[in-house]
Amino acid sequence: MGKKWLRERKRDYYYRKAKMEKYRSRAAYKLLQLNSRFRFLREGFRVIELGCAPGGWTQVASELVGASGRVVGVDLQRVDEVGENVVLLRGDFTSGEVRERLRELMPECEVVLCDASPEISGVWSVDHARSMELCEAALSIAEAHLTAGGTLVTKAFQGDMLHEFVKKLRTRFGYVKVSKPEASRKRSAEVYLVAMKYRK
Ligand SMILES: C[S@@+](CC[C@H](N)C(=O)[O-])C[C@H]1O[C@@H](n2cnc3c(N)ncnc32)[C@H](O)[C@@H]1O
Repeated sequence: MGKKWLRERKRDYYYRKAKMEKYRSRAAYKLLQLNSRFRFLREGFRVIELGCAPGGWTQVASELVGASGRVVGVDLQRVDEVGENVVLLRGDFTSGEVRERLRELMPECEVVLCDASPEISGVWSVDHARSMELCEAALSIAEAHLTAGGTLVTKAFQGDMLHEFVKKLRTRFGYVKVSKPEASRKRSAEVYLVAMKYRK
């Protein structure tokens, strides 16, 4: 990381706020903002979280579902323990092995969250295509685990395939919105797809 990047990060409002409020990532505020708008995380809910490292979203989900809820977080990277209501899995959520572990650990859930990012190549079309592959994997997991009326929230990089994917979500969910929370940097190509009211 360059000096300019480090300087910008220190000046960043959400980065400093996360440090102060003990969230592991500034991304935690994206989930807090999405949830305060759409209210998909509730006490007692079961949550599968895809691409959870370093665990900012996991902290938020764990707090909001409370002691009677449960979160299963998956990432390629190792993640430090989050709380008693959280189980962490290390692996690739597009693999059969992780899909099998998810079926054992949480066969049903009310919410699937995916903030997974592909490795960035810097070539817009390539990164967009990789991000859409992760969205497809998240949708497939959502279809296997969500209870009727459930919610999928997934990050996507904007590009020409996004529209088709949103259309697909609309065939499976009763309510779909494309949202960019304030904590998401303006210059970032990311948006969040919030798909609620799953039709099982
Ligand atoms: C932007 S970070 C997530 C930040 C997280 N929401 C937070 O608040 O701390 C994206 C993560 O997606 C993970 N990831 C990308 N592809 C993955 C895959 N196929 N399986 C598991 N994790 C993946 C990366 O390892 C990375 O840690």
